[in-house]
Amino acid sequence: MHSPSLLPLLIFLIFTTFSHYCLTASSATCHIDDETGLLGFKTGIRADPSGKLSSWKKGTDCCKWFGITCLTGNRVTALSLTGQPNNLTTSLSGTISSSLSKLQYLDGIYLQDLKNLTGPFPSSLFSLKNLLYVYIGNNKLSGSIPTNIGNLTQLSVLSLEGNRFSGPIPSSIGDLIQLTQLRLGGNLLTGVVPVSIQRLRNLTLLHLDRNKLSGAIPDFFSGLSDLRSIDLAYNKFTGEIPASISALAPKLSYLELGHNSLMGQLPDFLGKFHALDTLDLSWNNFSGTVPKTFANLTKIFNLDLSHNKLVDPFPEMHVKGIESLDLSYNQFHLGKIPQWVTASPIIYSLKLAKCGIKMKLDDWKPAETYFYDYIDLSENEITGSLVQLLNRTDYLVGFYASGNQLKFNLESMRFVKTLKYLDLSKNLVFGKVPKVVSGLSELNVSYNHLCGQLPPTKFPASAFVGNDCLCGSPLPKCKA
Ligand SMILES: *[C@@H]1O[C@H](CO)[C@@H](O)[C@H](O)[C@H]1NC(C)=O
Ligand SMILES: *[C@@H]1O[C@H](CO)[C@@H](O)[C@H](O)[C@H]1NC(C)=O
Ligand SMILES: *[C@@H]1O[C@H](CO)[C@@H](O)[C@H](O)[C@H]1NC(C)=O
Ligand SMILES: *[C@@H]1O[C@H](CO)[C@@H](O)[C@H](O)[C@H]1NC(C)=O
Ligand SMILES: *[C@@H]1O[C@H](CO)[C@@H](O)[C@H](O)[C@H]1NC(C)=O
Ligand SMILES: *[C@@H]1O[C@H](CO)[C@@H](O)[C@H](O)[C@H]1NC(C)=O
Ligand SMILES: *[C@@H]1O[C@H](CO)[C@@H](O)[C@H](O)[C@H]1NC(C)=O
Ligand SMILES: *[C@@H]1O[C@H](CO)[C@@H](O)[C@H](O)[C@H]1NC(C)=O
Repeated sequence: MHSPSLLPLLIFLIFTTFSHYCLTASSATCHIDDETGLLGFKTGIRADPSGKLSSWKKGTDCCKWFGITCLTGNRVTALSLTGQPNNLTTSLSGTISSSLSKLQYLDGIYLQDLKNLTGPFPSSLFSLKNLLYVYIGNNKLSGSIPTNIGNLTQLSVLSLEGNRFSGPIPSSIGDLIQLTQLRLGGNLLTGVVPVSIQRLRNLTLLHLDRNKLSGAIPDFFSGLSDLRSIDLAYNKFTGEIPASISALAPKLSYLELGHNSLMGQLPDFLGKFHALDTLDLSWNNFSGTVPKTFANLTKIFNLDLSHNKLVDPFPEMHVKGIESLDLSYNQFHLGKIPQWVTASPIIYSLKLAKCGIKMKLDDWKPAETYFYDYIDLSENEITGSLVQLLNRTDYLVGFYASGNQLKFNLESMRFVKTLKYLDLSKNLVFGKVPKVVSGLSELNVSYNHLCGQLPPTKFPASAFVGNDCLCGSPLPKCKA
């Protein structure tokens, strides 16, 4: 039928048509393995109230699906679905399907703040040889961190924070030598910090906070000189601040060791941390004086040494401007609010409860009052009136001065609109309780010299007891 000379042409036509079809097909849709892997992931999700996965439909180009990035032709390189921190509508409920192992070109998995992903650590990650970034924080994953986590040797970031992982941190974590960030905070991890972490020489961030880790903080920092951020707060660590932390002096900007059971003196070398902007050693058992070298922490913005056993004298700091300071509940006798605090142009939170401050509040003239959110001067020997100060702090949210000798007429005080928390208990405040207090979230004016009928509020009787002649709900009725 056909003349033989047509055959090559026919073959050519078939070939070109077919290959053209192939080319257009591959540019129009993602690789079949990636599509299958992602649809498998979708199958594992039982609830998706904000419709994050509604564009994930079989037969459409998965590179164009919501949350998907393809940087290598038609291969998926990133899976990125994140919720909003305080919005349950943006959650995903379900498990992380093992079919993710099909996404062979995946280099980043970002399943953050989805709140309701459950199940164990996704073992599918072990077959993804290109994976560099793992962010699966703020979900409800549980079980132990696999002992072979060290197999993921190519990882640059491992973030499992805010889940329910329990058991120890596997020592094989020290095999992840490319890691720059290790975020395991906010889980239920127990045991000691594996010494193998000292092999992670590229670490810039080590966050193990809010777990149940115990034992000493390993003295392994000398080779970790790129660390900029360490958070070990809210654990059960004991012992002293390890000496090798001094190796981090040039770069460390963030050091949180609060809420542990650490003890001993604050080391002199802390004063060499010229890049430090946040230092939190609160709620431990540190004792002795604060080293004079602290004067050199000129970049410190946030300093919290509260709830320790530190004693006088407190050094005169040369800081440019402190933002947040808490020295409460030590054994300090500061006498007055330090000048370097009063002079700060950017301070928003000042907590000096039980710091041995003896002064008249009217005499305190902070350089700036605009940014102040919180002031806590409880349990000092402060006299005078709050009226002038509150007239200048336009954005104050909380003022606490329980256990002083403040003496002024409560009715003459201007209640700034932002004020939510006011504790003036155990002072010498007089006058009536004004109606405006009903707008506060918390009030305590117990044990003062107030008098008269209470305005309607939601506060309990303990907020008003111990005054001269206050009456009306929640206290007994006024005599007619
Ligand atoms: C919560 O997220 C949903 C879906 O994205 C959005 O429509 C809603 O406005 C968000 N709610 C709040 C309080 O942000
Ligand atoms: C979380 O998932 C569980 C089990 O799938 C479900 O019962 C629960 O309603 C989900 N919670 C939210 C806030 O979506
Ligand atoms: C982890 O690595 C070891 C040795 O390299 C290997 O024998 C093992 O199969 C790997 N495990 C997984 C889950 O990949
Ligand atoms: C650490 O980072 C440097 C570059 O910053 C890189 O050359 C080196 O290979 C990394 N080391 C490890 C152990 O990953
Ligand atoms: C501090 O030490 C005391 C006595 O040694 C102990 O009872 C207390 O629990 C310790 N506090 C902390 C936070 O470790
Ligand atoms: C602060 O640093 C300078 C220069 O490094 C040093 O000479 C001085 O002694 C330090 N001051 C204190 C109190 O440590
Ligand atoms: C509050 O400040 C204003 C000016 O900002 C001033 O006019 C007023 O007298 C002050 N009130 C008190 C009670 O100090
Ligand atoms: C108010 O302060 C007193 C004494 O400081 C305290 O006993 C009481 O529990 C406080 N009440 C409230 C509601 O904060």
